[in-house]
Amino acid sequence: MRQSSIGHFHYHSGILHCEGISAELLAKEFGTPLYVYSRATLVQQFQAIRTAFMEIPTTICFSVKSCSTLAILDVLRENGAGFDIVSGGELFRVVKAGGDPRKTVYSGVGKTDAEIVQALELDILMFNVESEAELDNIQNIAASLGRVATVALRLNPDVDPHTHAKTTTGKKENKFGIDFASASRIIHNIAQQPNIRLLGIDLHLGSPIYDVNPYRQAMEKVYEFVTQHRSPRSPLEYINAGGGYGIVYRNQKVPSFAAYADAIIPWVKKLGCRLIIEPGRSIAGNAAVLLTKVIYDKDNGHKYFTIVDAGMNDLVRPAMYDSYHFCWPVRSAEPPPADLFSSHLAESYFHREDEEKKTDFSHRDLDVSGLRRSDIVGPICESSDCFAKGRRIPPPNRGDILALFSAGAYGFSMASTYNSRPRAAEVMVDGDHCRVIRARETYASLINGEIL
Ligand SMILES: Cc1ncc(COP(=O)(O)O)c(C=O)c1O
Repeated sequence: MRQSSIGHFHYHSGILHCEGISAELLAKEFGTPLYVYSRATLVQQFQAIRTAFMEIPTTICFSVKSCSTLAILDVLRENGAGFDIVSGGELFRVVKAGGDPRKTVYSGVGKTDAEIVQALELDILMFNVESEAELDNIQNIAASLGRVATVALRLNPDVDPHTHAKTTTGKKENKFGIDFASASRIIHNIAQQPNIRLLGIDLHLGSPIYDVNPYRQAMEKVYEFVTQHRSPRSPLEYINAGGGYGIVYRNQKVPSFAAYADAIIPWVKKLGCRLIIEPGRSIAGNAAVLLTKVIYDKDNGHKYFTIVDAGMNDLVRPAMYDSYHFCWPVRSAEPPPADLFSSHLAESYFHREDEEKKTDFSHRDLDVSGLRRSDIVGPICESSDCFAKGRRIPPPNRGDILALFSAGAYGFSMASTYNSRPRAAEVMVDGDHCRVIRARETYASLINGEIL
């Protein structure tokens, strides 16, 4: 039988397993929708990044927004990760998971006074400052607390990362970062801000980025900026290159971590700086699948709809970014295209899908491999509650469990209770063991805090 795998998710005797445990058993025991994480994949990805960036001192700050459940943060902390946060709530999570505030950097354009106080009191490594107004505010708050705030300026390098418009952050039309002219002025005036210590320069281009050249272009601009603006008052000893490394969702060509490192490291090395990076997706993305049960298969005379019990509240990426998640039954006589995403067979699966989509989504017949097209949709009352359009899968039966792959990053962390749907449970598998890392929400938890 063909072997099909992605990371530590693999088909064994026609059944999807996460490490040593059958996904079908997990769905039976814990119910659906269910996020299933592989601990081994998290550790493997983190260590692969560490190895790729080993040549210079590098702090890997896992991007908490990508996957913020405490047990996930704990695994990464245990392996040496620092954290990249964007809110007081994320800082709270980092501390609860035993993370070190001294290895925590704080990005985001709208840090409130209360959040700045919280971060100063916990003595985080640095704020990634996104505007002059924010810097002035941090100065005032730090002065009132009798502290010195350590900061990096987040530059907006105006480089196009060629990714989805909604996840591009480093172009001048985006709200993120500071333009170079304003950054020069800020550094020139920094002497008037005695409670600020400017430690470095930061950037984040967008996500996911499948080409290393935007990193090279941005780092070259940063290199020139730092050589011109460094001084004893502003030592600029850290460069933070952000995150954004791509992962395989289907058959994309993904640069190796070494290729990203090759685009970034030489500039940092020439400056003699320490490096910070903020990967999220590349660590967590392929560390989880979302299991969901087929509730009904519906034929409207024009096309089929496979209606599942997960909705856009559980995994919003397809609705929000038109993103692709490979989907396949966890029990399947016909395993998915071998090696799921990287093989020759997978190539032809994806190619055929693209070709047919150009014309029509509604091919109603089984194809030669016994696959049939349907829209895979959730139960939410929105037409955008759709995980896949015209997707070729084996014709499903009511009660079948499907896996939506590559769901670990921006999956559960973006989940909501829209349509008053309790959020899914999360389990983590470690070899032959598994444990619930977040209990399924209940109707009671849905109204927690509400007042009649
Ligand atoms: C400032 C910042 N750093 C890091 C990341 C993580 O990006 P990724 O998950 O693609 O590595 C993001 C995500 O958008 C971000 O906004």
